[in-house]
Amino acid sequence: TVMAAEQRPVVIGLAADSGCGKSTFMRRLTSVFGGAATPPKGGNPDSNTLISDTTTVICLDDYHSLDRTGRKEKNVTALDPRANNFDLMYEQVKAIKEGKSIEKPIYNHVTGLIDPPETILPPKIFVIEGLHPMFDARVRDLLDFSIYLDISDEVKFAWKIQRDMAERGHSLESIKASIAARKPDFDAYIDPQKQYADVVIQVLPTQLIPDDNEGKVLRVRMIMKEGVPNFKPAYLFDEGSTISWVPCGRKLTCSYPGIKFFYGPDTYYDNEVTIMEMDGQFDKLEELIYVESHLSNISTKFYGEITQQMLKHADFPGSNNGTGFFQTIVGLKIREVYESITAKGASLEAVKA
Ligand code: ADP
Ligand code: G6P
Repeated sequence: TVMAAEQRPVVIGLAADSGCGKSTFMRRLTSVFGGAATPPKGGNPDSNTLISDTTTVICLDDYHSLDRTGRKEKNVTALDPRANNFDLMYEQVKAIKEGKSIEKPIYNHVTGLIDPPETILPPKIFVIEGLHPMFDARVRDLLDFSIYLDISDEVKFAWKIQRDMAERGHSLESIKASIAARKPDFDAYIDPQKQYADVVIQVLPTQLIPDDNEGKVLRVRMIMKEGVPNFKPAYLFDEGSTISWVPCGRKLTCSYPGIKFFYGPDTYYDNEVTIMEMDGQFDKLEELIYVESHLSNISTKFYGEITQQMLKHADFPGSNNGTGFFQTIVGLKIREVYESITAKGASLEAVKA
C-alpha cells in the first residue's frame, strides 16, 4: 500500500564526526517530539537504531560496505566513501520516504562486523545521522532539512580527552594520534558537507577568556540558511539588524567570564545566512527564560518552552551553554518543518479529493 502524501516520512539529515554530540542532540530532538527514543525491542542488541512514537533515528555507519578488517586490509578509514555503500543508502532512504519498509544492514560497533539486517518501518520523522548524510547528491536531495554539527579541532580535542581518557583509559598521545589520522579524510569527505546544511551549529573556544585553552567555556554559533522552505531563522530583538548583547546584570546571573550574544546577517559558502551566537555559559538555568523572551521565530508552542526543555535535560552535556540552547532551538525548528510539510500535504490531498 502506498501512503498518502501527508503521511509520508519527513527526512532529516544530521552530519558530524563521531564523538561530536550527535546522540546528545538526538535525545534533545526526540524529547521535543514528546518521547524518549529507545533501541528496537527484541532485535540485535548492537543495533544503532533509536525509535520513539514519532521518530526513527538510523546511524549511517550501517551503510559501511567494508567492515573493520576490510578497512584495515584496504587501508581506508570509515570516513572514506569507498568504505560506504551510497547506492544502498540512497535506495533505502528513498524507499522510507515513499512509505515503504526496508531491510537495513547493521554495522556492529562492538565486533566491527556487518550483522544481518533489521526491518525499519517508515516513521513520521526519519533521521539519518552519521558521517555522510549530505555527501551523496541523491541522498541529499531526499532530505527535507539538514544539520551539520561543526566542532572545532580545539573543542573536539577537549571532548575526546574527557571521554576517551576519563572513560576509556586511552592516553593523551593515542588520542592526539587518532585525531591526526582522521584529519585528512575528515577534511576531504566530511567537512565539505556543511555547505549543504540548512543549519550549522559551530562550536568554538570562547573569546571571553584571553588565550583560553581549557575548552570548557564555548562560543557557539547557529548559522541559519535563508530561503529554506518551511524554515524561518530565529532572531534577536529586531529581524535583520546586527546586535551584540550582554544579558548579564539585574535579570541574569553571570559569573566570570560572563555571556555575550551576537545576532546578524552574513554569508557562508556563498549562501545568505543569519547567525546567532552565544559565548559563555549560564549560571542558573531557570534564568534562561530571560534570554528566551528576547528571541523571536523560535517555533515554541508556549512561552518558555526552550527553558522548559533545557531544565528537563539539565544533566545532558552542554545544557549550560550555547550547544544545548541552539540544539533545542533546532529541535523546535525541525518540529515546525515537520508540521508545515504535513499540513501542506494534507491541504493538497484535500484539493485533489
Ligand atoms: P556522538 O553521538 O556524535 O558520538 P555524543 O553525543 O555521544 O557524540 O557525545 C560524545 C561525548 O562528547 C560526550 O560523552 C561528551 O563527553 C562530549 N560532548 C558532547 N556534546 C557536548 C557538549 N555540548 N558539551 C560538552 N561535551 C559534549
Ligand atoms: C568512525 C566511524 C565508525 C568506526 C570508527 C573507527 O568513528 O563512525 O564506524 O568504527 O570510525 O573505525 P575503525 O576502522 O578503527 O573501526
